[in-house]
Amino acid sequence: MIAITGANGNLGKATLSFLLKKTQPENIVAIVRDADKLSDYAGSGICIRVADYEDQESLERALTGVHRLLQISASATGVRALAQETRVVHAAVKCGVKEIAYTSTLFPEESAHFQAAHICRNTEALIRQSGMRYVFFRNSMYHETIPLFIGEAMGDGRIFYPSGSGRVSFASRKDIAEALSNVLTGPAFDNTTHDITGPEMLSFADIASELKNIAGYPEAAHTDISPEDYRKGLLGFGLDEEEAGFYASMADSIRAGEFAKTHTSLEGFLGRKPLGVQEYLRGLF
Ligand SMILES: NC(=O)c1ccc[n+]([C@@H]2O[C@H](COP(=O)([O-])OP(=O)(O)OC[C@H]3O[C@@H](n4cnc5c(N)ncnc54)[C@H](OP(=O)(O)O)[C@@H]3O)[C@@H](O)[C@H]2O)c1
Repeated sequence: MIAITGANGNLGKATLSFLLKKTQPENIVAIVRDADKLSDYAGSGICIRVADYEDQESLERALTGVHRLLQISASATGVRALAQETRVVHAAVKCGVKEIAYTSTLFPEESAHFQAAHICRNTEALIRQSGMRYVFFRNSMYHETIPLFIGEAMGDGRIFYPSGSGRVSFASRKDIAEALSNVLTGPAFDNTTHDITGPEMLSFADIASELKNIAGYPEAAHTDISPEDYRKGLLGFGLDEEEAGFYASMADSIRAGEFAKTHTSLEGFLGRKPLGVQEYLRGLF
């Protein structure tokens, strides 16, 4: 059986829908924290199991009989995320999961600015030590994060973001989901690590130019605000210190060039060109 954690999330649900085109529903276990959130799949024939990353026993119940697992990285931050991802790996080992695919991040290095990179680094190490065969998807940022980063700029093209001239090899979340479904239904996992990126790297000034062209915003431009002003702005929007620190670390990471890398592995998994940022942005207007 093939299981997916976070199966009702954006990436999990997209992967699930691709998986259903490739294998029988009886082979699929969708692991969710709240079964109601996957109610549209209730009659699909897949097995929906409830587990919480905070509850080791629930994870062990959910992973019983699973051969291949897609562990989608946690959406929590800090020590909670570290503990949650560790629980999933331990539960998988205990349940005899043989093969695991894990969604890491593009630069999971000791020196990374991005807080999540340290969680991913730890989880990758745990999986390597576990004896399970693995495939790591080191994902760049999703196209779908662009509207989140630039906020009101979707309406006028004026981007205020502390990313300097840092570029990002944005990738389509849907493409990543399709690629994951190919891996999950493909040959034996071969202990490999893949940089999963789009075909090009764009700075936020490049994104502003795209918005000028695509949406016709005459004032579209990127202003590189200070990291401190950005953090204050996030706090002003009601984020707490931990959340603001997380998003600020993401911007620091972009500024430091940690997402400025492209690779053809996504194209290889898809057997076609991945969607580019221009096509994504065009679809929004
Ligand atoms: N590369 C990028 O640009 C990027 C951007 C955003 C996130 N990410 C990472 O990629 C992952 C997948 O992205 P996504 O867009 O699919 O995120 P998402 O839509 O937020 O999905 C997160 C999933 O995790 C589940 N989850 C959260 N806390 C849980 C818990 N305690 N126990 C069990 N399940 C729990 C959520 O369930 P509920 O619905 O019940 O909360 C949801 O199914 C994220 O979790 C994050 O690590 C990457």
